[in-house]
Amino acid sequence: MPRLNSTRLVRLVVVLIGLSAIGLIFKQSKNTLPHIEDLLQSTIQPKHGKNIFFVETNCSWHEHSKAFRLLNLTVRQACAVESAALHNPSFQVFVLFACSTYREAALPAPIKATLGYKNVQLRQLQLLEYVKDTPVEQWFQSGAIYNSSYIIIHMSDFLRLVTLYRYGGLYVDTDVVVLRSLEHVPPNFAALESDAFVANGVLSLAQTGIGHSIAESCLRDFQQNFNGSAWAQQGPLLVTRVMHRICNTTDLKSLVNNRADCQSFRVFDSKAFYAVNGDLWRNFFEPSELEPTLELTKSSYMVHLWNNSSKALYVSVGSKSPYDVYAKKHCPKVYATAGKYF
Ligand SMILES: *[C@@H]1O[C@H](CO)[C@@H](O)[C@H](O)[C@H]1NC(C)=O
Ligand SMILES: *[C@@H]1O[C@H](CO)[C@@H](O)[C@H](O)[C@H]1NC(C)=O
Ligand SMILES: *[C@@H]1O[C@H](CO)[C@@H](O)[C@H](O)[C@H]1NC(C)=O
Ligand SMILES: *[C@@H]1O[C@H](CO)[C@@H](O)[C@H](O)[C@H]1NC(C)=O
Ligand SMILES: *[C@@H]1O[C@H](CO)[C@@H](O)[C@H](O)[C@H]1NC(C)=O
Ligand SMILES: *[C@@H]1O[C@H](CO)[C@@H](O)[C@H](O)[C@H]1NC(C)=O
Ligand SMILES: *[C@@H]1O[C@H](CO)[C@@H](O)[C@H](O)[C@H]1NC(C)=O
Repeated sequence: MPRLNSTRLVRLVVVLIGLSAIGLIFKQSKNTLPHIEDLLQSTIQPKHGKNIFFVETNCSWHEHSKAFRLLNLTVRQACAVESAALHNPSFQVFVLFACSTYREAALPAPIKATLGYKNVQLRQLQLLEYVKDTPVEQWFQSGAIYNSSYIIIHMSDFLRLVTLYRYGGLYVDTDVVVLRSLEHVPPNFAALESDAFVANGVLSLAQTGIGHSIAESCLRDFQQNFNGSAWAQQGPLLVTRVMHRICNTTDLKSLVNNRADCQSFRVFDSKAFYAVNGDLWRNFFEPSELEPTLELTKSSYMVHLWNNSSKALYVSVGSKSPYDVYAKKHCPKVYATAGKYF
């Protein structure tokens, strides 16, 4: 019998070791990605218009790991999120992930850095539920959007409008650095990106009143004029079309900072958000352009990096190019995770 007892003892020890290993795994799980809640089911809901929304729609196949993309943000995207959270502490910053196929992973460093801010909320979207009770519910169910040749961009164009229609707030592209607070700018605004176009990279719409009507017009236009082969058709071109109608003019420059002429919607001058225009995106990467670029953006709320063009160019950490300097100052935690390049 003593033999049997010692076997039992060994078993007990094995079980205890097993249990403590499970305990360790649970402890470890603090360092893995927390369960990403569905936005609609979440206890923290966007409210009172004090929301900043980012949308991540890149669900691409990751060739290296033979799987769909990890739930992750690039350093640049995380920098946009951190800078928004840092400068707008009284707003909730929602990062909305639109893919249904994320793999679990250890907590990636850029995401971990943004989670250092209490006002950053990562959420998933269930798209069919998310479009319910919006003007585009049936159209979305038809699957027409998946015919797009630029699905990542077009889905992002679409979801920012659905989000503003549902909740109101401020939508911001992930290729920006926020430089100052927007907490005291009254809602309902966008900015020119050139004399003839209003961009959709920054769009504020209130949940009620004119903001909500504009969101509705945008969604109806999206459905009516959708063209999956045209890159900007549902983006800047859409917002520009809707502004022509709302403000009853095609002379958008005449509307700048003139809420009275546009049903109280404010069209900012391009300096506010797009001071360095799309043709000059390389300036963000040139140390020799630091002083003029800082001067040009000194009263800007944010800088837009035009990632469609600039995503292939690296920034060396410490190079003192404009992007390097903005990131170091306005997204310090993410910047610290970047390593040599971002
Ligand atoms: C989507 O992600 C893939 C893989 O990470 C990347 O190569 C691609 O450039 C991304 N596409 C866009 C439009 O950002
Ligand atoms: C997350 O993204 C960062 C920045 O692109 C990258 O360095 C890191 O390897 C990614 N993490 C995972 C787990 O894929
Ligand atoms: C997708 O595009 C094809 C070809 O243009 C068209 O025949 C089809 O009806 C479209 N599908 C949807 C769901 O709109
Ligand atoms: C570029 O910006 C779009 C829209 O904000 C975003 O969906 C996309 O993932 C970004 N791509 C990169 C490489 O940062
Ligand atoms: C859609 O956009 C493409 C590319 O700009 C254009 O060639 C085509 O004529 C457009 N289709 C419609 C129906 O407008
Ligand atoms: C729109 O503008 C035109 C001429 O610029 C004017 O005749 C018309 O009354 C305006 N409509 C509204 C609804 O303000
Ligand atoms: C963005 O890139 C796509 C192809 O990758 C191109 O068709 C489109 O014209 C570009 N848009 C701008 C504004 O550069």
